[in-house]
Amino acid sequence: MAIRHFLTLRDLNTDEFNQIIKLAIEMKAAHREGRQDPIFSGKVLGMIFEKSSTRTRVSFEAGMAQLGGDALFLSPNDSQLGRGEPIEDSARVISRMVDIVMIRTFGHDIIERFAQYSKVPVINALTDQYHPCQLLADVQTFTEHRGSIQGKTVAWIGDGNNMCHSWINAAILLDFKLNIACPEGYEPDAQLVTEAGDRVTITRSPTEAVSGAHLVTTDVYASMGQETEQEVRMAHFSGFQVNHALMSKAADKAIFMHCLPAHREEEVSAALLEDENISVVWDEAENRLHAQKALMVFLLSANV
Ligand code: CP
Ligand code: NVA
Repeated sequence: MAIRHFLTLRDLNTDEFNQIIKLAIEMKAAHREGRQDPIFSGKVLGMIFEKSSTRTRVSFEAGMAQLGGDALFLSPNDSQLGRGEPIEDSARVISRMVDIVMIRTFGHDIIERFAQYSKVPVINALTDQYHPCQLLADVQTFTEHRGSIQGKTVAWIGDGNNMCHSWINAAILLDFKLNIACPEGYEPDAQLVTEAGDRVTITRSPTEAVSGAHLVTTDVYASMGQETEQEVRMAHFSGFQVNHALMSKAADKAIFMHCLPAHREEEVSAALLEDENISVVWDEAENRLHAQKALMVFLLSANV
């Protein structure tokens, strides 16, 4: 049987995605009530980080600990990955010693090559192209605040980046409308947009994108690895800030999300980020913990 990995959201079907969100909500309640069984006892998660992280590392590590398992942090600086050992060799070695692997890296091909040689499930914890774990938490958060996302309208304001690509995948899988507003030259992957058909629209106007939107979301102008482009991007993204004025053009009771870390007064105003009547970013961050625990339950049981 082929091993089930989670490299993009499209590795799940709609039912499986919804099942993970339902379990995440249940596991969140269980965690709050202090009733958690050590279902991962004896299990080890290998965590490979080639980029920085706060939320992803803490949520995976805490999640494993809460369920009785262990997590190993591996960075290129102190493993042979940083000294040129091929990813295919690293995959064959690491996956003989751990039960599940999580990778944050640059090119998506790196994680695909690791998965091809891995004996255990591999989770994408962010590549330059996708960030599917964040989308599990985001959909969980929307569901908790506003119910099912199916048939709703989401506005993505900003760069057509890894988060935007995962939002497109979510729109395809969960059947909602996604309005993307981005400056010229910062569009998401054209093939993915074509696959999404009329669920996805691209505009240059943030105001047009948020019209009728139940959720407005954004991300930094320069992602990890693009730090040298920060200044030029600041100029190109002028007019793309999400703030109270823009939110007032969205649907009544629209909420705001950001995967974090946020750059206040760049892609989002400080006032909006801190406005807990609209901004659900702290719930969104917390839900990484619960959504990923549910994802690991799914992958570990799908692969027995
Ligand atoms: N949102 C997110 O993935 O955050 P970190 O980079 O802190 O892991
Ligand atoms: N687009 C951002 C997301 C960080 C969680 C990045 O890749 O840096």
